[in-house]
Amino acid sequence: MPAEAWTTVLSPAKINLFLEVLGKRDDGYHELVTVMACISLADRIAFRAVTGEITGEVTGLASDSLPPWKQNLVFRALELLRSESGTQMGMQVRLEKRIPQQAGLGGGSSNAATALRVANRLWGLHWSADRLAELAARLGSDVPFFLSSGTAICRGRGERVRSIPGLPGVPVLIAQPPEGLSTPLVFAGLDGFALRRSGQETEAALQRRDPLALGTVLFNRLEQPASRLSVWPDRMRNEFDRLPCLGHQMSGSGSCWFGLFSNHLVARRCQRLLEQRLPEVRVSHCQLMDGGESLAGD
Ligand code: C5P
Repeated sequence: MPAEAWTTVLSPAKINLFLEVLGKRDDGYHELVTVMACISLADRIAFRAVTGEITGEVTGLASDSLPPWKQNLVFRALELLRSESGTQMGMQVRLEKRIPQQAGLGGGSSNAATALRVANRLWGLHWSADRLAELAARLGSDVPFFLSSGTAICRGRGERVRSIPGLPGVPVLIAQPPEGLSTPLVFAGLDGFALRRSGQETEAALQRRDPLALGTVLFNRLEQPASRLSVWPDRMRNEFDRLPCLGHQMSGSGSCWFGLFSNHLVARRCQRLLEQRLPEVRVSHCQLMDGGESLAGD
């Protein structure tokens, strides 16, 4: 490959179709069972392998409010892979953000997984998927999920990932309220860990390829603590209750809310309705999709 070639890929967001918290661990994390699925809302990342440093330029959605480059998960992922592998190679990165922050959509985690996967190839490291996943888990609980095939049931603090069948193509609306939510604060607001749910019904609906059933068994334990931190979860629940969607809930630790729809026409109509009723909320229309690397078109 010529030295000047750039590789441009999409780095997708995720939603949590199911999220149960089983308890608090001694290391401060929470033990989870969650079903996550990739969606077509994605950041765009261009990579160019070079000799020298790992440098980056971040543009797009709320890029002004992002921490400095050396705290970005893309830099941290590349730096970790570089030091663990002993390669002398560097990387130029151009990251275009489209996934909102503090949204429960895993944008930063997705970017880190994408960086590991692409650098593994561009640096010619030939690391196995398992070895990359071990590194991914050190970068964040959700990072290993983004190395999976796009829909998975995840346990532990989220890093133990088992791929399950997805439902690519199911229409999704993502509604982003004007304020984000802090993941540690949302987890800290949980009270009690009785009567836990397993996620079995969610997995069964996916196995049966049944979007209708999937919509009826959505669940997220973190909605309750999130509702105590912000007025938006209750507002979103009330608005989505009025829409003809298959099901809706908060994604991850919020603050984004999502709805699943039976077809794109209905989803588009509901997007317009939401935009009229909640002008301060940003609504994106996308769909469930498979994971893995996809090259960005123009
Ligand atoms: O692993 P990650 O850095 O993404 O986690 C961010 C924060 O979210 C943790 O510091 C912790 O407060 C909370 N968290 C948790 N239990 C998990 C995952 C995250 O308490 N399973």
